Amino acid sequence: MSISTEVARRRTFAIISHPDAGKTTLTEKLLLFAGAIQIAGSVKARKASRHASSDWMEIEKQRGISVASSVMQVEYRDTVINLLDTPGHQDFSEDTYRVLTAVDAALMVIDAANGVEPQTIRLLQVCRARNTPIITFVNKLDREVREPLDLLSEIESHLGMDAVPFAWPVGMGKSFGGVFDIRRGRMRVFKAGSDRLSDQHDEIIEGLDNPEIANRFGAAFTQARGEIDLIEGAAPPFDEAEFLAGRQTPVFFGSAINNFGVQEVLDALVDMAPPPGPRHALQREVRPDEPKFSGVVFKVQANMDPAHRDRVAFVRVCSGRFERGMRLKVARTGKETRPNNVVSFLSQRRELLEEAYAGDVIGIPNHGVLQLGDVLSEGENLQFTGLPFFAPELFQAVEVADPLRTKQLRTGLTQLGEEGAIQVFRPVAGGSLLLGAVGQLQFEVVAHRLKTEYGVTARMMPSRYSMARWITADEPRDLKKFMDANMQHIAYDVVEAPAFLIGSSAQLRVAQELYPNVQFHALREHG
Ligand code: G4P
Repeated sequence: MSISTEVARRRTFAIISHPDAGKTTLTEKLLLFAGAIQIAGSVKARKASRHASSDWMEIEKQRGISVASSVMQVEYRDTVINLLDTPGHQDFSEDTYRVLTAVDAALMVIDAANGVEPQTIRLLQVCRARNTPIITFVNKLDREVREPLDLLSEIESHLGMDAVPFAWPVGMGKSFGGVFDIRRGRMRVFKAGSDRLSDQHDEIIEGLDNPEIANRFGAAFTQARGEIDLIEGAAPPFDEAEFLAGRQTPVFFGSAINNFGVQEVLDALVDMAPPPGPRHALQREVRPDEPKFSGVVFKVQANMDPAHRDRVAFVRVCSGRFERGMRLKVARTGKETRPNNVVSFLSQRRELLEEAYAGDVIGIPNHGVLQLGDVLSEGENLQFTGLPFFAPELFQAVEVADPLRTKQLRTGLTQLGEEGAIQVFRPVAGGSLLLGAVGQLQFEVVAHRLKTEYGVTARMMPSRYSMARWITADEPRDLKKFMDANMQHIAYDVVEAPAFLIGSSAQLRVAQELYPNVQFHALREHG
């Protein structure tokens, strides 16, 4: 098959949700429906191991399985689906955000009883910043949940997108009758249970005005019918361009645990989600079907053996064809690498390790040669834009217990900072280094790794900061004026970009008003 045919049949996406909304369940079901029975088992196993492990040491033992299941590949309807895991639970971290830079679409799962929850909003903001198209699945309709119209308007107001229902639920909980397929004008009748692996044998009632529906589902039907009329009058029609630009989200309803509504979502992913598109590099635009290989490191995960400092770099293929053993150049260092033992992810397809195309992910074990944001190519010097660093939300000051090991602490933190495990800030006014994270576990990971990999016992102390903004100004003197006046709140990150550290959003607002020429950024792009 030609490169462009391979690219056109790829769909690379991540599922985003708040913990407990049903991401693991839906992942399993999508894989089952797509025919990947073995893979499905390991998703559950991974989650179980995560639950069982209460501390980082235990989690580390599980890293083998967690590397393998961070990317799952299945082939369904002649489409190669790459599903990237976004760790979302206690191990929520910057990695979670960065994974979203490697996907072409996202599937948002919402618990119909809870509506849009905080973690979903944080992840959605990243998707919105990148105009990633989003498909929405409202889960757990087999329970007593919130009114669907309510949920719809919550999605719209919280996420700033138009929600376009493709399906509509008839009743909920005990009276859950099924869903109307609004486009096809028919109803799929709900059946509890999880043994069906396709919806082919489900009961379908044709025609929204079919009297059989009214007879069987009574009040639930009357309400649903009224709501559909309302939506058809009020909601904008589905517009593919708006969806692809991340401004409209198609909405499906169902119950993942009952395998209900899963097929529709899987088909929507294949039919609607876009194949890999061109990517912007500083030098030029790179098309996915170009003959030459290029790829970008979007995640670096330390691997099993800390003594060897081996890590796996997750590379999203951006163009061309990857073949095992090919010579690749790292743009940042100009060095060559020849990945032979590429890490295996979960896949139905044996040939995954032999070749990969735009949208696929390859895992390259290395000893620190590859860093976040690195670009691999067949020789051309490319720098992709857009790998973001997010303003941390949690801070701790760090000191070393034994002052003689201060140098090791700095070395360790610089390397861990480069790897993206944590963000390190050096206050202009002096004093302890500050660590910034988006998830609490990041601190534990760093303390553990400082000890095992650098022989440093770090002391973490609470910090008064809870917010950071990178600062820039068009005129250098405006920036200097701001920094001089706020010296106590300024710190440099690993690439010497200055940031404003504060304890509340009120402080940020005051600063914005007093210094209109200074820009405050919640996101810094790599490079
Ligand atoms: P997560 O990965 O987003 O954290 O969610 P997960 O799939 O683990 O689901 C969280 C809980 O919600 C699980 O129950 C799961 O069984 C349940 N669940 C998922 N989909 C549905 C659904 O459609 N309807 C209902 N009623 N429940 C659903 P649990 O008790 O926490 O775990 P388990 O013992 O069932 O594994």
